[in-house]
Parts: sequence; C-alpha cells; structure tokens
Amino acid sequence: MALVIRPARPADAALIHSLVRELAAYEKLTHEVMASEGALAEALFSAHPSVFCDIAEWSGEPAGFAVWFKNFSTFSGRHGIYLEDLFVRPAHRRKGIGRALLVHLARRCMAEGWTRLQWSVLDWNKPAIEFYGSLGADLLPDWRLCRIGDSRLARLARQAS
Ligand SMILES: CC(C)(COP(=O)(O)OP(=O)(O)OC[C@H]1O[C@@H](n2cnc3c(N)ncnc32)[C@H](O)[C@@H]1OP(=O)(O)O)[C@@H](O)C(=O)NCCC(=O)NCCS
Repeated sequence: MALVIRPARPADAALIHSLVRELAAYEKLTHEVMASEGALAEALFSAHPSVFCDIAEWSGEPAGFAVWFKNFSTFSGRHGIYLEDLFVRPAHRRKGIGRALLVHLARRCMAEGWTRLQWSVLDWNKPAIEFYGSLGADLLPDWRLCRIGDSRLARLARQAS
C-alpha cells in the first residue's frame, strides 16, 4: 500500500508550516498566515497539546495533512472533531488521500465515542465541496460562521462587562 497516515512529529514542523502556506495560497489567504514554524510546533508538540496533525505520505513522500482539535456539543453532550486544515498537494490529488484522511478522523471519532466531525469550507471552493459531498457531508444551510479577530477582539475585551 503506497499510502500511510501517521501522527505528525516534531521533525515535521517545517513540513507542516509549508503545508499550511500551500493551503493558504490555494485559498488566496496567504496574507492571513501569521503563524511561524515555531508557533505551530509549540501548539502541536507541547506536553499536552490541544491541536493535532496527521500527515499523509504517498510512497514515503509527504502528500497532505489534516490539522484538527476537539470540540464539544452541549446538545449531544459529546465531543467531536473540528477539522481546521485539510490539504493534499496537487500532484497527489484524486488518489484517495483526502478521503483516507477523513476516514482516519471518522475512525478516531468512532473509537473515542465522539459524535461529530465538522469543518468550514469557502463557498467558491467547488472542488472541495464536491469532495465533501462525495463523503456524505451536509452543507448546513442555516449556519453562518462568526468571528471577532485582532483589533475588534481587543476592543470587545476592553468593554465594561
Ligand atoms: C479537497 C481535497 C482535500 C481532496 O483531496 P483528494 O485526495 O484529491 O481527494 P480524493 O482523491 O480522496 O477524492 C475522493 C472523492 O472526492 C471527489 N472529489 C475529489 N476531488 C474532486 C474534485 N476536484 N472535483 C469533484 N469531485 C472531487 C470524488 O468523488 C473523489 O472520488 P474519485 O476520485 O474516485 O472520483 C484536495 O483536492 C485539496 O487539497 N484541495 C485543495 C485544498 C482544499 O480545498 N482543502 C479543503 C479546504 S476546506
């Protein structure tokens, strides 16, 4: 079997930083990448990490990755996985690697008793939407993503409570 999915290790820090930048370039969001290799390594490889990364290798060559963390649903009372990044390098697409990464995460959920696997996708990213559809994912029509970042986050934090 040419494909191996394995947990990332500290020696992968430069690779992970590069894959994050490759995904950002694809999403036209390179200008938003502030994370250094060191910051990613610190988050992923601390003694008690709360964010995790799986690397997909094709014949020993790094082909893609998934970065994820645990979330929680008060409705189900159970944890789940939030998939932050999923990326397969162009030369390795349509070989089943993206599917294998999601199957790997789905198996992790089943093994841990976690009940949900979710993520966000940009609305123009039709290939990814088709890919997710092929795996049985729903695109939730009633939900919008909300975010407060940077200066507006600081402004909110300064408000009297
Ligand atoms: C989306 C992505 C992760 C898919 O990875 P992949 O390894 O190429 O996907 P797979 O080979 O596992 O595809 C599984 C199935 O998904 C569907 N699919 C995958 N890519 C597709 C595409 N471009 N268009 C339509 N359907 C697609 C097909 O049904 C495919 O099965 P098939 O090849 O037997 O027809 C990869 O294209 C990628 O990294 N894209 C750029 C980054 C990105 O969009 N990431 C997601 C951000 S939310």
